[in-house]
Amino acid sequence: MEDMFRLVDCEEMFSKRCIWVNGPVIVGAGPSGLATAACLKEQGVPFMVLERAECIASLWQKRTYDRLKLHLPKHFCQLPNFPFPQHFPEYPSKNQFIDYLQSYARHFDINPRFNQCVQSARYDEISGLWRVKTVATCGSVKNEFEYICRWLVVATGENAECVMPEIEGLGEFKGDVIHACEYKCGERFKGKKVLVVGCGNSGMELSLDLSNHNASPSIVVRSSVHVLPREVFGKSTFELATLMLQWLPLWVVDKILLVLAWLVLGNIGKFGLKRPSEGPLLWKNTKGKTPVLDIGTLEKIRSGDIKVVPAIKRFSDGCVELVNGEKQDVDAVVLATGYRSNVPSWLQEGEFFSENGFPDGWKGKVGVYAVGFTRRGLSGASFDAIKIAGDIGQLWKQDTKQKKHRTIACHRRCISQF
Ligand SMILES: Cc1cc2nc3c(=O)[nH]c(=O)nc-3n(C[C@H](O)[C@H](O)[C@H](O)COP(=O)(O)OP(=O)(O)OC[C@H]3O[C@@H](n4cnc5c(N)ncnc54)[C@H](O)[C@@H]3O)c2cc1C
Ligand SMILES: NC(=O)c1ccc[n+]([C@@H]2O[C@H](COP(=O)([O-])OP(=O)(O)OC[C@H]3O[C@@H](n4cnc5c(N)ncnc54)[C@H](OP(=O)(O)O)[C@@H]3O)[C@@H](O)[C@H]2O)c1
Repeated sequence: MEDMFRLVDCEEMFSKRCIWVNGPVIVGAGPSGLATAACLKEQGVPFMVLERAECIASLWQKRTYDRLKLHLPKHFCQLPNFPFPQHFPEYPSKNQFIDYLQSYARHFDINPRFNQCVQSARYDEISGLWRVKTVATCGSVKNEFEYICRWLVVATGENAECVMPEIEGLGEFKGDVIHACEYKCGERFKGKKVLVVGCGNSGMELSLDLSNHNASPSIVVRSSVHVLPREVFGKSTFELATLMLQWLPLWVVDKILLVLAWLVLGNIGKFGLKRPSEGPLLWKNTKGKTPVLDIGTLEKIRSGDIKVVPAIKRFSDGCVELVNGEKQDVDAVVLATGYRSNVPSWLQEGEFFSENGFPDGWKGKVGVYAVGFTRRGLSGASFDAIKIAGDIGQLWKQDTKQKKHRTIACHRRCISQF
């Protein structure tokens, strides 16, 4: 391996291929990882991006449905230092967003190392360095690598793994059972009775898509949910809330949002969609749950094309039994039960990982950072990326200044991207 530097001071390291990275290792080549890489470039800091998939933005390219559009206006979703093309609509489609991310990577010349799934990352107190172990799969061959670096940026996303619920009888259910991440289009469910489990943004939109493709969807709403119109009087609800928060306390904005939602959507409680006792912004802040932005599902619920049902008791013999005792025939089940981060499984760093990353959001101790973990979607990721690159950039400049004053015996080869 010509690009490798083999460390000689630790026996254990001989068993793996060790790679010294000059600058930070960024784990994940989704929007957060790309944004951080681009901001580091601007700071003149070299880096290495490790990605488990064989492409950038794997969530968007592989695990999203065809009709998906960004729910927020485009100016809230663009990454730092590279605006969306002028001709993009207010709510870009998933393919437009993927095109944008590919142009972004090209523009900043970001070339991740693909097929590198991070298995563990540990801070070595003695050397003051991070040791990041990956497995790279090439066909049936597995190669282990160890990357050694001073800074680690966690950019693996809040939605890295699917949440698969345990429901009695589901394992024996004979029909199709898929997670929302495998759902592409309702065409294959035409004429079928489909149970959609979960009423977040995914469950609501997939039910709409199923209905539009002449399937008969029922959506399971086991607790409460905030549904808001995507726009109020032609203005994005999210944008309105952001503007109001500059002047008004959160509880007042929450009250105004609920009045607006009532004016536009009416009383959703009568369709089985019970609102939480907290307002939508407080619900998001305290429970981490994103309000659903309605893009037509409510109309279908109102017309009876989509049925709302309560929690599931069990599956048996091709039918589902609900907690209210009702039984329904079901041909297929779509689990829109959400996602979770995978960071606790590989990052060996005690402070990480609360629901929102580090206690301080983007910055941990000992040179570790997190981007995109504060439940603020793409705009939150951009904010974190700018902060992280600024912080590392400063340390990098201090380091390089000091190094100029020292003569370093440098027999090793480092790799990183610049
Ligand atoms: C269906 C859907 C629609 C969404 N729509 C919006 C929207 O409109 N607006 C919005 O703001 N947010 C939206 N989100 C939230 C969305 O996840 C984020 O906004 C965005 O993708 C976050 O980017 P990220 O880079 O942090 O995470 P991701 O996009 O998930 O990227 C993380 C990357 O890390 C890689 N990775 C994970 N684990 C490892 C590992 N162990 N080793 C190496 N690589 C790893 C993954 O393969 C992935 O490429 C949506 C989410 C879903 C599921
Ligand atoms: N265009 C867009 O912008 C767009 C589209 C889709 C998704 N997204 C984003 O992607 C992220 C994930 O959204 P998501 O909708 O996939 O997940 P989510 O918001 O986490 O919603 C998961 C849903 O599944 C329910 N659930 C979980 N386990 C269940 C069980 N055993 N039985 C019944 N219901 C169960 C949850 O109910 P409880 O509330 O009771 O736990 C919740 O309603 C969010 O940030 C969302 O905003 C965005």
